[in-house]
Amino acid sequence: MTEVFIPVLDFAEIPEGQSRRCQLEGKDVALFHVEGCIYATQDECTHGRASLADGYLIGDEVECPLHQGMFNVRTGAVTAAPCTQALRTYAVAVRDGVIHLAAEPATAN
Ligand code: FES
Repeated sequence: MTEVFIPVLDFAEIPEGQSRRCQLEGKDVALFHVEGCIYATQDECTHGRASLADGYLIGDEVECPLHQGMFNVRTGAVTAAPCTQALRTYAVAVRDGVIHLAAEPATAN
């Protein structure tokens, strides 16, 4: 089956080392620009009601703004407590300067 990719945001709208929130079919998704690549995860922290796009991107890890739990944005894996559940991640493709996301997450938690 062919994976469906949906355009969400211009690549130029996310400077290196920054994050943005976007909508993917009604769901909030966080986008992170790390070393020239874009990574996408669910926006809501798995520990509570906080937006990871509003968190702090440190290298390839995002620190949640609420309780400072951390995740690797490339894999969605937890890297610091109090979080225990990984994030859903989405495949990303940049075509003609536009970020596209896979309609379905690569990992389902
Ligand atoms: S809500 Fe994110 S660490 Fe608690």
